[in-house]
Amino acid sequence: MLDGLLMFRDQDSSMKRRLFVSCLSGAALLMSFLAAPALAESGHHEKRPEAHEWSFAGALGRFDRAQLRRGFKVYKEVCSTCHSVKLLAFRNLSQPGGPEFSEKEVVELAASYKVRDGPNDSGEYFERPARPSDRVPPPFANEQAARAAMSGAYPPDMSVLVKARGYGRGFPTFLFDAIPGFSYQEHGVDYVASLLKGYSEPPHDMKIPDGQYYNAYMAGNRIGMPPPLSDGAVTYDDGAPQTVDQYARDVTAFMMWVAEPHLEARKRIGLGVISFLIVFAGLLYFTKRKIWSNVAH
Ligand code: HEC
Repeated sequence: MLDGLLMFRDQDSSMKRRLFVSCLSGAALLMSFLAAPALAESGHHEKRPEAHEWSFAGALGRFDRAQLRRGFKVYKEVCSTCHSVKLLAFRNLSQPGGPEFSEKEVVELAASYKVRDGPNDSGEYFERPARPSDRVPPPFANEQAARAAMSGAYPPDMSVLVKARGYGRGFPTFLFDAIPGFSYQEHGVDYVASLLKGYSEPPHDMKIPDGQYYNAYMAGNRIGMPPPLSDGAVTYDDGAPQTVDQYARDVTAFMMWVAEPHLEARKRIGLGVISFLIVFAGLLYFTKRKIWSNVAH
């Protein structure tokens, strides 16, 4: 009798607990629905970045070599006057998984740059032509020099910039972003490509201070970078269109490779591991059937 009563009480409390948990999660869901528009309207006027087609997106994604080469050209001829890529060495440009320039091309390219080396036998620093093992030299000696030249703004290093930028997709999209097949990891590249195309005249009620520019995608809509791209500014020799849109996508793809040079290997290994696990799970299942088949149950 007492046992029965205790059981009843236990069941009762576990039901209550379940009811409480479901009420709590219901309330949280409701709140996030209500909060989403409020957050979106809290004074930010940035546009949501445009979704682009990227060859490296998805489980089977790979870089487009021709695009990486064009992107490097845009970086070299335009962005490198202000932005450094400190983590990139010339030799990386000929490694598998990247733009895959030939070693000869890389030697010639490196030699066209000067790097500081030393101290030599007499204790002095000197300049010499770069070698493939050198990192790409930065345009400014240090942050202060860059800020002084750019009316106070600092052009960030580009090595991992696409990984450091992104945007919130909001509820409920972010819930799907984790599910394979729906997963979306191109926040950074979509933002950067949109930013590069996002310059326009400011709305008439907005004052833009000197040395700043209106950009639809930049936080606060003001950016210290003058519009870097214009149609026809970089000459492509592979017949790709010489437009701001094409330049923006190419240089962003290049930045993605710089930030994640082993992306292709990572995706390839991931697929291999998943396939192995599927086969292994099948083998384990049949092994289990075989082992237990003679045991009476
Ligand atoms: C004339 C110098 C200059 C050139 C050329 C230039 N940038 Fe910038 N860039 C800047 C400055 C300065 C900032 C910092 C802006 C700020 O903080 O308001 C910046 C910021 C950025 C940012 C970060 C924006 C953010 O969200 O904070 C990105 C991305 C970027 N540049 C990409 C590029 C690319 C790609 C190119 C080449 C196509 C390029 N820039 C060419 C000066 C330059």
